[in-house]
Amino acid sequence: MTQPTPAPGSVALITGGSGGFGRALARKLRALDVNVVLTDLDSERNRQVAADLGCPFLPLDVTDLAANEAVVAQVEAEHGRLDAAYLNAGISAAKSDEALDLDEFMKVVEIDLFGVVNGVQAARPAITRAGGGAIVVTASLAGLSPMAGDPAYSVAKGGAVAFVRSMAPRLDRDGITISAICPGFADTAIIDPIREEFEKAGFPVLTADEVADAMIAAWTSAEPGAAYVIQPGLGAVPYKFKGVPSAKTESGETAVVPEALRPPSMR
Ligand SMILES: NC(=O)c1ccc[n+]([C@@H]2O[C@H](COP(=O)([O-])OP(=O)(O)OC[C@H]3O[C@@H](n4cnc5c(N)ncnc54)[C@H](O)[C@@H]3O)[C@@H](O)[C@H]2O)c1
Repeated sequence: MTQPTPAPGSVALITGGSGGFGRALARKLRALDVNVVLTDLDSERNRQVAADLGCPFLPLDVTDLAANEAVVAQVEAEHGRLDAAYLNAGISAAKSDEALDLDEFMKVVEIDLFGVVNGVQAARPAITRAGGGAIVVTASLAGLSPMAGDPAYSVAKGGAVAFVRSMAPRLDRDGITISAICPGFADTAIIDPIREEFEKAGFPVLTADEVADAMIAAWTSAEPGAAYVIQPGLGAVPYKFKGVPSAKTESGETAVVPEALRPPSMR
């Protein structure tokens, strides 16, 4: 079956856009005639990456809500609309020793979780004004299967998946489909500190292009609130969330949670 592609001339914003996934995604979207605005931390290197891709660059630290809003306003002013926001910026904890470095923990959660919350807050009104569109959050397999080596990353990505699922119904009512992608380990700079271990063990890692394909499919074809697992040799598959045991009424019947409080996967 052929996947629908984004309409030529539509406008997409990518956070953390100068990184491995961002570059692969930008390249593929540009080839589909999508106008791509790359955002990332301000540096010569990141500006050059955008220039090499032929994309405008806007500096953005995702932890700053006002800066997210300013970037979206600029995209609308310069391109007339915003159809898709890829909330993709992220870091992992550098240290994996037994002690937990709380400063580092908070930094990871601030970027990987609250950066996503800020991005949704900023992009929602603009995508609604465009008549609807998509928000695709780069979570991680670690958000579904926590990593003992990086509790902060696991919490942040698990939170991002929960945020996507809980926001989905209200965004859907605005015509916006929000979804999460949950890649396993992929060949980008973020795995530099542990790359050797994969190589030694002969463990397969994803290419950034494989992940970018799933990111594009999520724009055009995702179910609201879905999380797509991406693994080498597997492709992108929707994750099936398991429901929790239900409450019982006094008469012993299963109590039904009011619809408005149910996650999308339980409706
Ligand atoms: N590569 C993997 O194995 C893997 C697996 C699952 C999920 N992810 C997630 O994919 C996303 C993209 O990562 P990547 O693999 O391309 O790694 P990457 O390190 O190449 O890219 C991450 C980008 O995020 C940017 N960034 C960091 N802090 C930021 C901030 N405060 N504001 C704005 N931008 C910021 C960095 O400058 C960088 O360009 C991240 O959210 C990461 O957690 C990666």
